Amino acid sequence: MSEVILACTELTKTFKDGERRIEVFKKLCFSIEAGKKIAIIGASGAGKSTLMHLLGGLDRANKGQICLKGQDLASIGPNKRARLRNRYLGFVYQFHHLLPEFSALENVMMPMLIAKQSKKTAADKAKQVLDQVGLGDRLEHRPAQLSGGERQRAAIARAMVMNPACILADEPTGNLDEKTADAVMEMFLQLNEMYNTALILVTHDMHIAKQMDHIVELKHGELHLFSGD
Ligand SMILES: Nc1ncnc2c1ncn2[C@@H]1O[C@H](COP(=O)(O)OP(=O)(O)OP(=O)(O)O)[C@@H](O)[C@H]1O
Ligand SMILES: [Mg+2]
Repeated sequence: MSEVILACTELTKTFKDGERRIEVFKKLCFSIEAGKKIAIIGASGAGKSTLMHLLGGLDRANKGQICLKGQDLASIGPNKRARLRNRYLGFVYQFHHLLPEFSALENVMMPMLIAKQSKKTAADKAKQVLDQVGLGDRLEHRPAQLSGGERQRAAIARAMVMNPACILADEPTGNLDEKTADAVMEMFLQLNEMYNTALILVTHDMHIAKQMDHIVELKHGELHLFSGD
C-alpha cells in the first residue's frame, strides 16, 4: 500500500456571517496517497476552496484532524506547520498569486529561500523548473509582463520547485483558454509521472477531471465518489 500523504478526518468547518452560521461541511473525511491524482468537483459554493484551504493548512477547521505526512497539523506549532507545508505541499490557485514586484525567477526561488537553501541552489533549481514549463526565456519578467498562461505556468513552477509530495490546485486552468489549459494539465500529469507527485485538483471541467484517477464530488457537505453521468 502507498503512503498516505495528506488526510483529514471528521473535518467540520462553519463560517459565521453576522447572525447566520454557514456550515460548509461536517465530519468530512478525505485522504490521498503518494502518486495519486484526485479531482474534486462540485457546484459553486459547495466548499471546494474551503476544503483546499484547510487541507493546505491555510485556514483552520472548527473540528477534526488534518495529517500531513503523518503529522497532525493542529498539534504542532506555527513554525513547524509552515515548514512542513513548504516542504511537502505545492499550491496553485485560480489566480496565480505571484508576487508582483519580483521576477518569475525570484518568485519561483522563493519557497527554496524560505527553506533556507542557498541563493545559488535556489536559482539553479528555479531556472531548471522554469525551463521545464517553457519559461526559460522569461526569467526576468515580472508577473505583469507575462501572459495569463505564462503566469499560471510560473505559478506551477513555484509549486513544484520543492518537489512536493502533493500539489493542491484550485481551478488552476479556470482562467485559461483550452489550448493553454491542456498544456498546463499536461504539465501536471508529467510531474505526477516523473516525481510521483500526488495531485488534488479542483475543477469545473469534466474533461480535466477525467484525467485524474478518481473524481469525488462535494455536495451538501459530503464527498462522494463520482462515477459519471
Ligand atoms: N471567509 C468566509 N466567510 C463566510 N463565508 C464564507 C467564507 N468563505 C467561504 N464562505 C462560504 O462558504 C461556502 C463555500 O465556499 P467555497 O469558496 O469553498 O466554495 P467553492 O466550492 O470553492 O465554490 P466555487 O466553485 O464558486 O469556487 C460558500 O457558501 C461561501 O459563501
Ligand atoms: Mg472555489
